[in-house]
Amino acid sequence: MTKPRIGIIVGSVREGRFADAALTWFEPIARARTDLEFEVLDLKDYKLPMFDEAAPPGMGQPAANAEGQRWRNKLAEMDGYVFVTAEYNRAPTGVLKNAIDWAYYEWNRKAAGFVGYGSAGGTRAIEQLRNIAAELQMATVRRAVQIDIMPMWMEGKKIEDFPRHEKDAGKMLDQLAWWTLALKSARDAEHKAAA
Ligand SMILES: Cc1cc2nc3c(=O)[nH]c(=O)nc-3n(C[C@H](O)[C@H](O)[C@H](O)COP(=O)(O)O)c2cc1C
Repeated sequence: MTKPRIGIIVGSVREGRFADAALTWFEPIARARTDLEFEVLDLKDYKLPMFDEAAPPGMGQPAANAEGQRWRNKLAEMDGYVFVTAEYNRAPTGVLKNAIDWAYYEWNRKAAGFVGYGSAGGTRAIEQLRNIAAELQMATVRRAVQIDIMPMWMEGKKIEDFPRHEKDAGKMLDQLAWWTLALKSARDAEHKAAA
């Protein structure tokens, strides 16, 4: 079996985003693993319009919008995802929700973990994403990274100053690896049986 591929989805796009600090910290931790492969899927690199297709992605038709289809094709290459998520108004960002809405089957039967941040550690954004993920038939893992950004803002601290985050990242990735492998094995067996 090929190594499972995990897409690290960067879910905010504004200038000066904290997402860059979160990604710079998390990516080497992820890439240090030998059991998973990672690719950064930065929403800055996908100019997705607000979802405006005639057919919902769950209807199974290709997207009429070329960028929307490019996004779906990239998601389809992945076996699981880590959402690096900000919290805007107690929710994930609009840009992330919109990117999620652009696909359906590409998310199905895959695992997902979260690196959240905000003044409450991104907790409320993560909880909403878990609910969204249930509709998309994804298995979300229990452990998440929840970064309180206030010490970074107010005291100039860095994510590394809080060792708990690295521990959470490790546990989250352990759980993600287990579920990703289990679901990939099941998907592969199904494809083999259908061939
Ligand atoms: C529109 C908006 C709404 C926000 N609402 C929340 C919120 O509900 N909870 C929270 O913890 N932080 C909130 N914040 C603060 C963000 O957590 C903080 O700006 C963070 O850096 C955003 O991520 P980003 O820099 O990657 O865009 C909000 C920020 C913006 C721009």
